[in-house]
Amino acid sequence: VIFDLLLIGFGHVARRFVRLLDERADRLAADEGMTLRIVGIGTRRHGCIRAADAGAVDSGAALSAVESGRSLETVPGIVPAADALALLRDVAAQGDAARDGRLIVVETTVLDIARGRPAIDHVQAALGSGAHVVTANKGPAAFAYDALQAAAVRAGRRFRFEGAVMDGIPVFNLVRETMPLVAVEGFRGVVNSTTNYILTAMEGGREFADALAEMQAAGIAEADASLDVDGWDAAAKAAALANVLMGAGITPHDVARTGIGGLSRAAVQAAASSGRRIRLIASAARRADGLDVRVAPETLPETDLLASLAGGENALALRTDLLGELVLVQRDSGLTQTAYALLSDVVGVGRELTN
Ligand SMILES: NC(=O)c1ccc[n+]([C@@H]2O[C@H](COP(=O)([O-])OP(=O)(O)OC[C@H]3O[C@@H](n4cnc5c(N)ncnc54)[C@H](OP(=O)(O)O)[C@@H]3O)[C@@H](O)[C@H]2O)c1
Repeated sequence: VIFDLLLIGFGHVARRFVRLLDERADRLAADEGMTLRIVGIGTRRHGCIRAADAGAVDSGAALSAVESGRSLETVPGIVPAADALALLRDVAAQGDAARDGRLIVVETTVLDIARGRPAIDHVQAALGSGAHVVTANKGPAAFAYDALQAAAVRAGRRFRFEGAVMDGIPVFNLVRETMPLVAVEGFRGVVNSTTNYILTAMEGGREFADALAEMQAAGIAEADASLDVDGWDAAAKAAALANVLMGAGITPHDVARTGIGGLSRAAVQAAASSGRRIRLIASAARRADGLDVRVAPETLPETDLLASLAGGENALALRTDLLGELVLVQRDSGLTQTAYALLSDVVGVGRELTN
C-alpha cells in the first residue's frame, strides 16, 4: 500500500526522519507492505511545497535545499503554497489518499509553550481533511489531547505522538497496545535530556553554559533554551503523559514547575559529594483533591534509579494498578530515536489500515 506523507516542519527531526525512511524503505516494503512517499513539505521560513502532478517530492533535493539555506521552492517539479494550512488543503484535495485514509501528516513544528499553536491547528485541520496525524511535538497532546483525540475518532483517523516523550522509546503506544485494562495511577521520571546533561556535567565540574551550548549544537536542546532550563519542556511532557495516561485534561500551565536555572554548580557538586544526586523530576500522583502534576529538581539518594541517569539518559516509572511499578529507561537519546518514533507511529497507522 502506498501512503502519502505531508511533512509540516522540516527541521532536525523531520530531516532525520526523511533519511530514516530511505534507510528502511526495503524493510518497510518487505515486512509491512508499505511504500511511503513524501508529497509535500511545509515550513515557516523555507517555503511550503507539494509535488506537481500528484507525484512525490524529490526528498534529496529538499534536504539539500534546506541544508544549504535555500528555499524549498528551488526544488524541481513542485508547486508552492502560501502556508502550511493552504498546503494541507491543496494536498488533501488532490488524488484519493485523504479519502482512502492513506494520507499521513507528520507534524514537527517547534513547541509553542504559550498555547501549543499553530501545531494544534495543523493537527485539527489535518484530521478534518481526512489525514492521520503523527507528531513529535508535545504541544498537541499537552494542550489539547481530549479535543484532538475526539476529532480523530469522529474522523475515523489516527492521532499519534509517540515522539513527544522519551523520543523513540514506546510509552504511549506501549500502554495503549500492550496494557489493556491497566490503570496508570501515577508516574515519576527524568524526561528532559538537556537538563539531565547539564546537571551531570556540573557534577563533573563543568560550567552550566558550556554544557547547554553543547546540547544546542547537537540539535537536542530546544531552539529556545529557556524551554529546557526553566522546566517548560518537562512540564509539557508531564502534561501530555497525565492527559493521555491519566485523563488529566490539563495544560503545561497547570503543572507546578521549577526549573534548574537556580541551581549552582556548587550545590550540584555538594549533593554529589554527600552521595546524593540532584535530578529534574517530572511526576504525577492522584490526591484526594485531584491530580498533582509537577516538575522540580529533587535531591535523590544514590540508590534511586533516577539518580543513576547520566548525560542525556531518561527514565520513566509508571505506577499501575495491575502491574505495580514498571520503569522504562532510555540510554541513548537523539534525533534517530525521535525520527524512529515518527516512523513507528506511521507503521502503526499503516498496520491498522491494512489489517
Ligand atoms: N530535537 C529533538 O531531539 C527532539 C526530540 C523530541 C521531540 N522533539 C520535538 O520535535 C519538534 C521538531 O524539533 P526539531 O528539533 O526538528 O526543530 P527545528 O529543527 O527547530 O525545526 C522546526 C521546523 O518547524 C518549522 N516550523 C516552525 N513553525 C512553523 C509554522 N508555523 N508552520 C510551518 N512550519 C513551521 C520550521 O520551519 P523553518 O525551517 O522555516 O524554520 C522548521 O522546519 C519540536 O516540537 C520538538 O519539541 C525534538
